[in-house]
Amino acid sequence: MLAFDLRVNNALAAREQQGLTRHIRTVSGGNTHTLHHGHDAFINFSSNDYLGLASDKSLANAWQTGIDNYGNGSGASPLVTGFSGAHQQLEETLCEWLGFERAILFSSGFSANQALLFSLLNKEDLLLQDKLNHASLMEAGMLSPATMKRFKHNNVEHLNSLLTKDALVVTEGVFSMDGDRAPLANIHQTTHGKAWLAVDDAHGIGVLGNQGRGSCEAANIKPELLVVTFGKAFGLSGAAIMCSESVGDYLTQFARHHVYSTAIPPSQAFALTHAAKMIQTEQWRRDKLHELNERYHQHLAGIEGYVETTTPIKPFIIGEDQQALDVAENLKRSGLWVTAIRPPTVPKGTARLRITLTANHELRHIDTLSEHLKVALKG
Ligand SMILES: Cc1ncc(COP(=O)(O)O)c(C=O)c1O
Repeated sequence: MLAFDLRVNNALAAREQQGLTRHIRTVSGGNTHTLHHGHDAFINFSSNDYLGLASDKSLANAWQTGIDNYGNGSGASPLVTGFSGAHQQLEETLCEWLGFERAILFSSGFSANQALLFSLLNKEDLLLQDKLNHASLMEAGMLSPATMKRFKHNNVEHLNSLLTKDALVVTEGVFSMDGDRAPLANIHQTTHGKAWLAVDDAHGIGVLGNQGRGSCEAANIKPELLVVTFGKAFGLSGAAIMCSESVGDYLTQFARHHVYSTAIPPSQAFALTHAAKMIQTEQWRRDKLHELNERYHQHLAGIEGYVETTTPIKPFIIGEDQQALDVAENLKRSGLWVTAIRPPTVPKGTARLRITLTANHELRHIDTLSEHLKVALKG
């Protein structure tokens, strides 16, 4: 047996022993409110399709039109021949909507975050990240040559105590596992004129702010860098870094995930422009989320483990890993698909259900969830 065989086998055995092995399950309709697994149907409380666009027919038609007009793949990276009129239109739409000079496109939020930190940071730099930032940011920070420090979650005082001139401060707008929002106005006040602020608004864009402009607009700030991703409220996939003219030029030269990676299909860029327009104009989707949120609160507030949020992400804290799995399994038996999240994704002792709402849910779905959750919690 060679060393790599041993490493792989040992790592898998350790995961299994800790009871932390993850499994991929094949489902159909994971992008709708009711998914199917095997012969069973489940109400889906696990997707990030907050606005219900992932299965929207008019968006599918737009993508189809994009294919008719532009063909299939982009054929090359953006700097070769992969950048089409559809990509340009998407960049312009994002800039106009979100109030930035430039938008640089990536095939995922993960690669956008990595590109951002790898291309900006040098050895002498200080990177300050919220402790609960996404794995893509943490990993890039650890692998970058800069010194990375993590500030306590949403703690502006702690951030301020670590802050030095010319640091790069990175936070999410909405935290993916907790559904809470960063105190962006205070963070911006602290960093303004002293450091650059980058906000990853994967879970806020489309959902918060006027016309769905996201967490920063809702907090009335404009950070130096804003990452928006298209796999959640946009109902598709991909991402963009919103920035100034000069940073756009810089990323075009030095962001390797952009330069050396095949551009997203032009049909997808075309569909994303359509999604951006839908997000801006279809306020009813955000109103619906608000209504579902209220109903969820009415049913479950006050029960141990309940966490109030103003976003469609509803953590329900269970504590022990096995107990979280048991409650999720119990809900599955009642036809509800809810994901249990355990360490290392969340801190030890805070295993939870990550319940997510989508504009495709109906109030009756929330009623059913609440009823069964109360029973499942009793074991
Ligand atoms: C906060 C945050 N940033 C970035 C990403 C990665 O985005 P993508 O799924 O487009 O790679 C995620 C994905 O879950 C996320 O939650």
